[in-house]
Formats: sequence, structure tokens, C-alpha cells
Amino acid sequence: MTKLDVNAPNFNWGELGFAYRQTNAHIIFKSKGGKWDNGELVTEPFLQMHIAATALHYGQTCFEGLKAFRMKDGKVRVFRPQANAERIIQSCEYCMMTPPSVEMFLDGVKRVIKANIEYVPPYGSGASLYIRPVMFGIESKVGLSSSDEYAFVIFVTPVSDYYKGGMSNPVKSLIMAETDRAAPFGTGHIKIGGNYVATVRSSYLAKKRGYPVLLFLDSATRTYIEEFATSNFFALTPADANGKRAYVTPKSHSILNSVTNMSLEICAKELLGWDVERRRIAYSEVEEGKFDEIAACGTAVVITPVGEIDHEVVKEDGSVVVNKHVVGDGVTVGEGLKKLYNTLVDIQNGEREDPFQWMWPA
Ligand code: COI
Repeated sequence: MTKLDVNAPNFNWGELGFAYRQTNAHIIFKSKGGKWDNGELVTEPFLQMHIAATALHYGQTCFEGLKAFRMKDGKVRVFRPQANAERIIQSCEYCMMTPPSVEMFLDGVKRVIKANIEYVPPYGSGASLYIRPVMFGIESKVGLSSSDEYAFVIFVTPVSDYYKGGMSNPVKSLIMAETDRAAPFGTGHIKIGGNYVATVRSSYLAKKRGYPVLLFLDSATRTYIEEFATSNFFALTPADANGKRAYVTPKSHSILNSVTNMSLEICAKELLGWDVERRRIAYSEVEEGKFDEIAACGTAVVITPVGEIDHEVVKEDGSVVVNKHVVGDGVTVGEGLKKLYNTLVDIQNGEREDPFQWMWPA
């Protein structure tokens, strides 16, 4: 994927933020009775669907998020699309939807990028092409059961930072009382719309109070860290005399298996020589100051440093207290996060070797 961007749009790429922008085309595949067609590129960004489609009322829909980068050698490559293909297959299987094959997913990604090649931001701009595959049941049904017909759309949009300032701006996070993201044996581990809409209202309320991102604890005991509304959680222990740290991230059935988090674990262990711990993390460990750096990670947010976590706790008399925890000095981005971030984005931009063959096509 190297075509010259002769008609490159005139964007201020670094200032795009995270918003939908119309591009040339998206691709749509359709299936009936478990069989997918070959997909077609469509320019008009609207759908006509039945008012009783299962996606609309029972939420039979799942999605993915991945990114394409224009790399140092001028080629356009996608970060670990096979991992996203495998994850949407898991989401589909859980929701009894007809999954795409890995090959079909990759074929769709390749065709939609090719059709929108001039929207892949330039090398060095700090921006990328966000790829959003979305799958939904389109059969008309009113009783609760799985659809026999699906649409699988992949659209793209150029993006830069999700949270203003990205990696250079630590955000404030809130653990809100009496709001949960996912049930212990619910759907928190798959990428379905329902997990996100569950946090929309509380996220809106938190944002109005100056917290761009909500952090959730486990809904059964409100003791262990789960994830942010938009992304996974990880923390770093202070560096020892040799610069070695531990990368610590929650283990839970009800959090999304983030491709970025898995990749950062590998970068931390294999490229930086740090320890990696995927385990239950009691929030009290944060309050005790066990970690000197904390961040959100995901495709959209990349690594977003967290400068403060405020924890709302309901007391026995029903009153709410807010326990404030400042991470580091609250405003400076830690050295560990900088190292990890540079390792990841240097692979994505082709500025360092890609030892795990993450960039596709190789
Ligand atoms: C992503 O990081 O790709 C996501 O899908 C999260 C979403 C809130 C933008």
C-alpha cells in the first residue's frame, strides 16, 4: 500500500482530534444463513435497514478499532490487524453472530485503506488512519433470538489524539460511586456496543466535573481495578537502580482484551527488560503509592497518562466522600511511560525494527 497521495486532503493532521470525517468509501459485506458475500465498496455513508433489525433493539452488534500508519519508508501498514480479527470473531461467537474469517477481515481492511489512501496521515504528523469495523444483525425479528443476517462494515477516518494533549497531558480520572461498567460474568470481555453505552451517562457527568475519563472497579466488590470507560488500565512501579520496573495490568474476566495492552506488555518485557504482572490489582495499592506512573491504553487513546484518580466512596450514612490520589506530581509525564510510548510508536512509524512482525503487510 504505497500509492502517492496526489489528492491529499488539506488537514492540519496533528489537530484532527478523534472525530468522524467523511472519506471516499467504506466497505460492506453481508451474510445470510452463515455465508458472507465478497463485500463491496460504497461511497454513501448511510444504510437502509429494517426497523426490526436485531442490532437496533437487542443490541446485536460488535465492533473493532485499529490503526494504519504511513511509515518512514513511505509504505502504509496496519498495526496487528490479525489480533483485531481474532477478537471480533470472539465477540461474534459470544453474541451468536456470523463471524468473518480472519482472511475476510484482512481483505476488507486492505480494500478500504486502498480506497482511502490519501486519508492516511503523513509520516511524522502524529496522526493515523483509524479503522472501525462494525458488525450488526439486520434480520427483522421481534422475539429475542439471534439474527440470521448480518452486515459487516469497515469505515476509516483520520485521527490524532483522543484526549486533548495525548501523551503529553496527564488526565484526571474519577471512580464514580454507584456506577458499574460490566457484570462479573457479563459481556465486559468482548467488544460490543452495550459495554460502551453503559458508561455514556456517567462519562458525561464526570466530564462536566472535569474528569475526561472514568475508571471502573469490579462491580461485585468494588475493590479491584477493572478498566477505564474507553481503554485498559496499567501502572508502573518505580524504577530500581538498574532502571527496571514492573508493568502491572489487571486480570479480570470482565475487561476487554486490549491489543495495545498486550503489545505494551510485550514491549515492556522483551524490549525494555521489565517485569510484567497481569493480576488482580486492589485499588488500595494505588492509594498506598505502589505505582509511580499510571496510564490508560488502547488503540484510540494509545497511552494516556493519568495524573490523578479521585475515588468516590459512599459512607454508611449515605454521604459520599471523594478520596483524592495524585500520581507523581500530577502534571509531569513519567520517564517509564515515555519509554514505553516511544517503543510502541517507533515500531508503528517504522523508526525502529519491528521484531514481532506486528506491522501488516510485512
Ligand atoms: C478503540 O480504542 O479503538 C476503541 O474502540 C475505544 C473507543 C472508545 C474509541
